[in-house]
Amino acid sequence: MRRIVGSIAKALRDKESVEATVPPLSPEARIDGKRCLVTGANTGLGKAVAIDLARRGGHVLMACRGGHPEAGEAVRDASRSDRVEMQRVDLADLRSVHDLCDTLRDRRARLDIAVLNAGLMPARARRSHEGFEVMFAVHFLANRVLIDRWLGDGVIRPATPGRAPPRVVFVASEAHRSSEPIDFERFGAFHDYGIRDGLRYYGLSKLHLCTYATELSRRLNPDAETRVAVHALCPGPVASDIAREAPGPLKPLLTPIMKLFPSPERAAQPVSYLCCAPEPGTRSGMYLHIMREKRPSDLATDPANGTRLWDASEVLVRRYAPPRPD
Ligand SMILES: NC(=O)c1ccc[n+]([C@@H]2O[C@H](COP(=O)([O-])OP(=O)(O)OC[C@H]3O[C@@H](n4cnc5c(N)ncnc54)[C@H](OP(=O)(O)O)[C@@H]3O)[C@@H](O)[C@H]2O)c1
Repeated sequence: MRRIVGSIAKALRDKESVEATVPPLSPEARIDGKRCLVTGANTGLGKAVAIDLARRGGHVLMACRGGHPEAGEAVRDASRSDRVEMQRVDLADLRSVHDLCDTLRDRRARLDIAVLNAGLMPARARRSHEGFEVMFAVHFLANRVLIDRWLGDGVIRPATPGRAPPRVVFVASEAHRSSEPIDFERFGAFHDYGIRDGLRYYGLSKLHLCTYATELSRRLNPDAETRVAVHALCPGPVASDIAREAPGPLKPLLTPIMKLFPSPERAAQPVSYLCCAPEPGTRSGMYLHIMREKRPSDLATDPANGTRLWDASEVLVRRYAPPRPD
């Protein structure tokens, strides 16, 4: 309970006090014809991002577990764009993740901008389809598999001369800073927890994600040239329904507090900046907390941790890869 109250208090403080170091993205900035994919785009931050990218001229694929087809209609209406599609994916089920990848591969799709936004805060420990803790599965492992497949299938292609680098933007959280280190001896092991420890495992899953984002950026851009621009961010507090699983007694407390948080449209600013502004298209490895550029935590940026995370997750990526067609 103390952890929950502490993090709400911090979120309310952040809302006022995080000074911007990057300029707001002009409403006129355009991404005409760019092919974008946003996970968890049926609601909250992801939906606001999908609307903004479509309004700026992007072709947006909303990769969602639910909200079909009405969320797509809502994004089309709000953006006044008909270049919006929906594709079903359950990120807590690696078969479904691979099905999405197969669809993109078979369509010979190519992405210019991928926003890996989907997230959740379960009230207590739950297993993904493959038996992993669900936040480890959705915040980290599914993204690891998606990027691995997209690079392998040519859905994301490193820049070539005359072609801008594609951008990959991970929606993480400042909660990664308060996490304990990743236990590589028990990598991916299921941990049982109740409401008291939910935030602890939320932070741990976002530490996996931030460590992965840093390592991916390093591996894809080994020299000064940016081939794939990989960025991460914390949007700060968002007036979304992320606390929808909060147990009954907490709900009356959380619902009015969440309403004090910035709207998803406002919280989408750093995402739109990383997706559309010129500077994040020419460099890789940015991390924004709202509109302030920061360095992720020492644990997330330690190259030894990055390598260990890469190698340990590679085993899982291979274990759950679908059989290769003959
Ligand atoms: N809200 C905050 O204060 C806050 C602060 C920092 C960071 N963030 C991060 O911001 C991101 C967006 O969160 P939000 O606040 O917009 O929450 P939200 O309104 O609850 O949206 C979360 C989205 O993720 C999707 N999702 C969850 N599990 C999924 C699964 N297994 N497969 C596919 N999609 C799944 C949800 O789909 P369904 O609708 O089908 O469940 C929903 O579209 C998350 O990564 C979150 O960790 C949020």
